[in-house]
Amino acid sequence: MLTIENVSKKFKGFTALADINTEFAEGIYGILSPNGAGKTTLLKIMATLLFPTTGTVYYNGTDIRQMGEQYRELIGYMPQHFGYYRDYSAERYLKYIAVLKGIGKSEAAERTDALLDRLGLFEVKSKKLKTYSGGMLQRVGIAQALLNNPEILILDEPTAGLDPMERAKFRDILVELAEGKTILYSTHIVSDVEDIADRIIMLKNHTLHCNMTVDELRNTFLQDGKAVTLEQAFIKTYQ
Ligand SMILES: Nc1ncnc2c1ncn2[C@@H]1O[C@H](COP(=O)(O)OP(=O)(O)OP(=O)(O)O)[C@@H](O)[C@H]1O
Ligand SMILES: [Mg+2]
Repeated sequence: MLTIENVSKKFKGFTALADINTEFAEGIYGILSPNGAGKTTLLKIMATLLFPTTGTVYYNGTDIRQMGEQYRELIGYMPQHFGYYRDYSAERYLKYIAVLKGIGKSEAAERTDALLDRLGLFEVKSKKLKTYSGGMLQRVGIAQALLNNPEILILDEPTAGLDPMERAKFRDILVELAEGKTILYSTHIVSDVEDIADRIIMLKNHTLHCNMTVDELRNTFLQDGKAVTLEQAFIKTYQ
């Protein structure tokens, strides 16, 4: 269980996040908000890549900053803009990341093969990353986040640039992986999370607007007595 208490983040004078209070339990959390709302800032705080200006994030009651390495072993993070070595093959890149994560050699080899297989990259594992399509690179990004079999998976717009088929495939992979994990998944695309998210997080005016189930959110706006679609609820929230 992750608990966010009074978290705010200021960049010089600018408030990117203000007084966020919420909880993330097991399940898929779709973070759906327009550009600049603060999704990346929030996810970086959850990944301990940024520290909040005020407030605290707790993992099962312990401050994640105090947990340090112990917390980082629990998480996998896929940044919005992920850097890779163009001349590395997927296999070499993943083994390299495994070293950085402190994973032993034989486990790294085993996990790398299993993930390449699961993400449909096994056949191309020796090809250089510079020859990969956008969708293939995104899958490498997911694979590196999963190397340590994290309990908390933080994905910042993992489907950016993917075609509808790749998005669908990506959804299937996530659902398959989700059991027992907390997945924080930011996106602009409603259909990415509509069918798979247990809850939807929306940020508005740089603070938390909601953390509710898809149905609860759809029911906050009625049209002719019926719940609107998630897409309509999203649009109406920011109108
Ligand atoms: N290092 C920084 N210094 C100054 N301002 C920043 C910094 N990082 C983010 N911001 C500002 O904070 C706000 C939130 O940014 P953030 O990247 O978290 O938004 P986002 O919801 O991820 O947007 P997008 O959908 O475009 O990825 C933006 O106004 C951004 O300009
Ligand atoms: Mg972002």
